[in-house]
Amino acid sequence: MPPSLDPPRLFSRGRPSERWGSSLGFVLAAAGSAVGLGNLWGFAYRASQGGGSAFVLLYLLIVVVVCLPVLVAEMVLGRSTGHAPLIAPVTAGGRRWRPLGWMFLASAVGILSYYSVLMGWTGRSLLHALTGPLPADIGGAEAYFIGISTGGDAVLGHLLSLGLTGLVVAAGVRAGIERLTKVAMPLLFVMLLALLLWAAFLPGAVEGYSTFLLRWDPAKLSDPATIRNAFTQAFFSIGTGIGAILAYATYLNRTSPISGEAVAVVGMDTAVGLMAGCVTFPVVASFGLGDVVSGSTVGALFIALPTGLASLGPAGRVVAVVFFLLAYLAAITSAVSLLEVPASSLMDRLGWSRRRAVWLSVAAIAVLGLPSALDVGVLERMDAVFGGVFLIAGGLALALLLGWRAPARYRADLEGSGSPPALVAALLFALRWVSPPAIAVGLVVSIADLARSWAG
Ligand code: PHE
Repeated sequence: MPPSLDPPRLFSRGRPSERWGSSLGFVLAAAGSAVGLGNLWGFAYRASQGGGSAFVLLYLLIVVVVCLPVLVAEMVLGRSTGHAPLIAPVTAGGRRWRPLGWMFLASAVGILSYYSVLMGWTGRSLLHALTGPLPADIGGAEAYFIGISTGGDAVLGHLLSLGLTGLVVAAGVRAGIERLTKVAMPLLFVMLLALLLWAAFLPGAVEGYSTFLLRWDPAKLSDPATIRNAFTQAFFSIGTGIGAILAYATYLNRTSPISGEAVAVVGMDTAVGLMAGCVTFPVVASFGLGDVVSGSTVGALFIALPTGLASLGPAGRVVAVVFFLLAYLAAITSAVSLLEVPASSLMDRLGWSRRRAVWLSVAAIAVLGLPSALDVGVLERMDAVFGGVFLIAGGLALALLLGWRAPARYRADLEGSGSPPALVAALLFALRWVSPPAIAVGLVVSIADLARSWAG
C-alpha cells in the first residue's frame, strides 16, 4: 500500500504543534540527548576493556559511516511526518511498520527506567562530594558505592531524578527542554574543558592517554568484544534508533538544515566522549586504578574516581563536585529526550495534554525501574537488552524504512531544506548500502557476544 493512502488521522488525535525557538535550540537539545552518561561512563569503561586505539578507531568509523546517515534518517522521519515516534513509522511506511513505533516506545521506556537509577547514583555522589570527605581507599569506596546503589538510597535517587525529568518535559518543548539545554550544554563544555586541563597536569597523564588512545593492536579490530563495544557505544552515545531524536525533529520547521545539524550533534557527542576519556584515563593511571575500571561493571567509575581524587584533599573534592555536576547535567538532558518519546506518543495517539502524558509515563517508568534500582545485576541486563540490542535493531529498521521503503521522502525532505544534492546522494547511498549490512553484522556479533557473556 502506498504510504499516502494510509491516513495517519486514523491513529493520531493530537499531532504535536509545538516548535523550537531556534535552530541552535534544537541542535543543543539534540546534542543534550546524545551527550550523556554514555559518554562519561560508557566510553571510559568500554575503552578500558582492552581495545585501545582499535576500539576508538572502530567507534569513530561506525559513528561517521553508519550512525550519521541513520541519525539524519531519524530526523527526516520526525520532521517530514510531523508525528510522534509511535505513529511516524506508519505514516512513512504504512501499517506494516507499526511494530517499529512500539519498539521505539519500548526501548525509550526501558532505557529511561534504568538510566534514572544511574542518575540517582550520580546525584547521590554529587551530594556526597559536596557534604563530606571522599572515601579514603578502595575498600571505603566500594562500601560507599554499595550504599548508594542498593536499597532506599537507590530507589529515592531514581524517583527524584525521574521527577525532575518530568518537571522539565511537562513544562514543554520551549519553556522546558530548550531552556534547560541552552544553559546546561555550554556549562557542561566549560566544566569538561576545565577538568581536561586539570587532568593534563597529573603525573599519570601521558600514561593515561597512551593506554586509552595510543595502544595499537590490529588484532583487536576483529575481536568480537571490541566490535560489540564499539557498536554499542556508537549507537548508545549518539542515541539514534529509539525515537528520541525523532520526537525532537517533529518540532523543527521545514527550512532547518538537518544534515548540517546532524553533523554538529555527532561532532559534539564524539568530542565529549574523547574529552571525557582524556579526563578519566589520566586519573585512573595516576592513581593506579586500572583494575577497578576494567572490572567492566557499571559502578567502576563511581568507585575509582572518588578514590583517586580523595588523595588530593580539598582540591580533589572540588574536582569531584565539578565532575558529578557535569555528569548530572549530561544525564538529565538525555533523560528528557527519552521521556519525550512516550509523552509525545501519548499526546499524538490519544490527544492527551502534555502534563497528563508526562506524568503517566513517569509513573509507569518509576515502577519499571524499581528492579534496576534494587539490583545492579538487573540494571546491567536492562542496559544490555535495551541500550544494546534494541537500540541497534531500531537503527537497522530506520535505515531500511528511509533507505528502501521511503527513499523519496529522505531525498525530498533534505533537498527541500537546502542540502546540496551531492551530499544527499552520498547520505542516501550510505543509508542503503553501508548502514544496513554493517548494522546487521554488528547486531549479530552483539547478540552472539552477549549470549556468550551471559552463558559464561
Ligand atoms: N546518548 C545518551 C548517553 O550517552 C543516552 C541516550 C540513548 C539518550 C538513547 C537518548 C536516546 O547517555
